[in-house]
Amino acid sequence: MRVSLCLLPGDGIGPEIMPQAVKVLERIAGKFNHEFFFAEALIGGAAIDATGGPLPQETIEKCREADAVLLGAVGGPKWDNVANEIRPERGLLGIRKELGLFANLRPAHLFPELAGACFLRPDIVARGIDVMVVRELTGGIYFGEPKGFDTRDGERVGFNTMIYKEHEVRRITAMAFEIARGRGKRLCSVDKANVLEVSQLWREVVLEVAKDYPDVELSHMYVDNAAMQLVRDPSQFDVIVTGNIFGDILSDEASVITGSIGMLPSASLSDDGPGLYEPIHGSAPDVAGQDKANPMATILSAAMLLRHSCNMEQEAQAIEKAVQRALADGFRTIDTMEPGKAQVGCAKMGDIVAERI
Ligand code: IPM
Ligand code: MG
Repeated sequence: MRVSLCLLPGDGIGPEIMPQAVKVLERIAGKFNHEFFFAEALIGGAAIDATGGPLPQETIEKCREADAVLLGAVGGPKWDNVANEIRPERGLLGIRKELGLFANLRPAHLFPELAGACFLRPDIVARGIDVMVVRELTGGIYFGEPKGFDTRDGERVGFNTMIYKEHEVRRITAMAFEIARGRGKRLCSVDKANVLEVSQLWREVVLEVAKDYPDVELSHMYVDNAAMQLVRDPSQFDVIVTGNIFGDILSDEASVITGSIGMLPSASLSDDGPGLYEPIHGSAPDVAGQDKANPMATILSAAMLLRHSCNMEQEAQAIEKAVQRALADGFRTIDTMEPGKAQVGCAKMGDIVAERI
C-alpha cells in the first residue's frame, strides 16, 4: 500500500523523537511491503521563527493532502512572551480545528515491564491499568465564544465560555460507544452535571445515544470524583468519554500513573479526512537537544496511525510488540530508568525498537 504522511516535528524534543518513529515506519514498510512517502511542515515555535505565525497556510495544505499526520510537540520558553494569538499552542489548536479532529483517543496502558516505574501501590498496579480516554477536541471551553479580556466595575476580567452543541456531544459519544464495544464494553461519561448546565445537556445527550448501545454498560461520574477514582483504582475504568478541558486534565493524570508520560500516544480523528497522531507529552524544553527524550510515545503514535488511518492492524501490533520487546530486553530511557536496566538515549532507543520489528 502507498501511504503519504505529513510530519510536523515542532519544537523542543519534537525534532529528536520524530526521526525515531520514521525509522520504525521505514522498517514496517520493508517488512510488510508498503511505501511510505514523507512530507514535512512547520508548526508551533518553529513556524513562528520561520514565518511569523504558528500555523502557516502551507502546513494546513500539506496536512490536508496527506493520508495522516504525525506530530512531535509544540511550545517552549522561547515563545512564552509572544502575543496570545500567535502562541505555539495556537498552532496545535488551529490544526485540530482545521482538520475537524473532534475525537481524541488517549490510551493509558501499563506495560507490565514498567510496573516498577508506576507511581501507585503494587497491589493497585496488580489489577492492571488499561484505560482509553476519549476526549472531545474541537469544542467546549477551548473554543467557546465569547472569550477575552474586559474591564468591568473598574477592574480587569478574563473570561471564556464552556459550550457544547448537541451534535458535538452526540458524535463524540457515539465514537466512544463504538470503541467501548470493541474493548471491555464499559463506558464512563465524565462531567460536572451537579453544577454546570453544559454538563447537564452533555448527560442528556449521552443517555439518548446510549439507547443505540444496549450491549455497553454506561455510567456517569463527576469530574472531581473521576480524578480521585483514577488514582484510587484505575482498573475500574475501560473507556472514559468527556469534554475538552476535563479530558485534557484526566488524560495527563491517566498517563502518568502508567509510569511515564513519555510512553503514551494519541490519535485525533475526524469524520473523514486525515487523522493526526501525537505523543501526549509536550516539548520538554529542559531535556531538548540532549538525546534524552523517550521516543516510545511517538513510535506508539505511529502504530495508532497505521491502525486508524491505514487499516493496518497487523503492522500496528508489530510496532507495539517491538516496543514491548525493547522494554523486556531491559532498555530504558532516563524517564523510566530503574536499577538493573540499560539506559540508552533517544536515537539508540529508536534503533532498538526498529531492530525488533
Ligand atoms: C494536550 C496539550 C494541549 C491541549 C495544549 C498544548 C494546547 O495540553 O494536547 O493535551 O491543551 O490540548
Ligand atoms: Mg494536555
